[in-house]
Amino acid sequence: MKILILKTKELGNYLPILENMNEINDFTFKGMHRVFIAKEGNEVVGFAALQCCHGYYVFRACVVSKKFRGQGIQKKLIKSRLRYLKNINVNRVSTLVLTNNIYSLNNLISCGFVFNKGQEVIDGITYLKLIRKIGN
Ligand SMILES: CC(C)(COP(=O)(O)OP(=O)(O)OC[C@H]1O[C@@H](n2cnc3c(N)ncnc32)[C@H](O)[C@@H]1OP(=O)(O)O)[C@@H](O)C(=O)NCCC(=O)NCCS
Repeated sequence: MKILILKTKELGNYLPILENMNEINDFTFKGMHRVFIAKEGNEVVGFAALQCCHGYYVFRACVVSKKFRGQGIQKKLIKSRLRYLKNINVNRVSTLVLTNNIYSLNNLISCGFVFNKGQEVIDGITYLKLIRKIGN
């Protein structure tokens, strides 16, 4: 499996494929710092986004194509984003996860994320806050 790392404006022909795969409400590719695209041969099998807000980096949507789920692709997309951040000397990253998204929670925790100060409610939906330090 190969992971491409692109700026939003470089997505080109990938954008409609990714938009079609996206099942996260309110997520838009516009304004992302980088988009990580997982490919198996020529097929796009998943994506994950990294946002930068005022110098703070945030993991955003991660979606794996239905027929490729259960093969550890989300974890590869998490590790790839962590490597990228380490290479640009970023020392922490945070993310929000729906309280019932057990697969994402498990994968993030197994990649070193920890819970950070409880929950956040956005538009009436409760998210857990997680953070990961990126070490020297
Ligand atoms: C959450 C998600 C990204 C996980 O991706 P993944 O690469 O499949 O993650 P994993 O390989 O760790 O599999 C997670 C679990 O999926 C389950 N699974 C296995 N095959 C599956 C299949 N064909 N379809 C659905 N789930 C399957 C397994 O129970 C697996 O857990 P296991 O480790 O006990 O086997 C993916 O399910 C997804 O895209 N969901 C919809 C979008 C979403 O919720 N994104 C996260 C929030 S931004």
